[in-house]
Amino acid sequence: MTTKRLKIALTKGRLQEKSAQLFERMGLDCTPIREPGRRLVHSIPNYPLDAVLAKAPDVITYVEHGACDLGIVGKDTILEQGRSFYEVLDLGFGRCRFALAVREGSNFYDTYKTRRVATKYPNVTRRFFERKGMDVSIIKIEGSVELAPILNLADAIVDIVETGATLRENGLIPIEDVAEVSARLIVNTASMKLCKEEILRLIESCKAHLEG
Ligand code: PRP
Repeated sequence: MTTKRLKIALTKGRLQEKSAQLFERMGLDCTPIREPGRRLVHSIPNYPLDAVLAKAPDVITYVEHGACDLGIVGKDTILEQGRSFYEVLDLGFGRCRFALAVREGSNFYDTYKTRRVATKYPNVTRRFFERKGMDVSIIKIEGSVELAPILNLADAIVDIVETGATLRENGLIPIEDVAEVSARLIVNTASMKLCKEEILRLIESCKAHLEG
């Protein structure tokens, strides 16, 4: 029986280095993904695996449609986009949290006015406030969400907090945790059946080489 070459989508940016480190602990030669140049698909020379680097929401799209068999993506993007694939492993890195944050000294809850909440994650934010039974107006922002309360566009933000430095340096404080986040290994549902052996072997190897 021939081994099928798997395709994995890796999230560019914060998770990229940690994904490469995990693969290296598993014995994979990551030179092609460490020195990608302008090439988009990278063959791992010593393992039947091709890797592509993509933005987090696209990782989910490629895996969901079966363009890639597997993906590494943050739980933040999974919570925001949902959709259908198997989430098979918490990889433990890329740990951070979603938090609700406000300007220091402001009282978010103590008003009858409809509060405005800026975020890159409107679905996560909507569900969080629905659970509380609170009616808020959600403003979608594409990046540097911390600007919105500073410019008085919003009363609060829901965003990723890792070290807390961005909040601190912009006079904001977290007042409530919304969800825990870390990198996850996801698998296309059809690939899981068609390439079961190859995928289980890769999952087992990842499991055996997680940090800590
Ligand atoms: C994320 C997040 C915060 C920051 C939090 O932004 O949206 O702004 O990191 O990290 P910290 O708690 O360690 O300061 P990112 O750098 O991904 O850029 P963006 O806001 O432009 O999307």
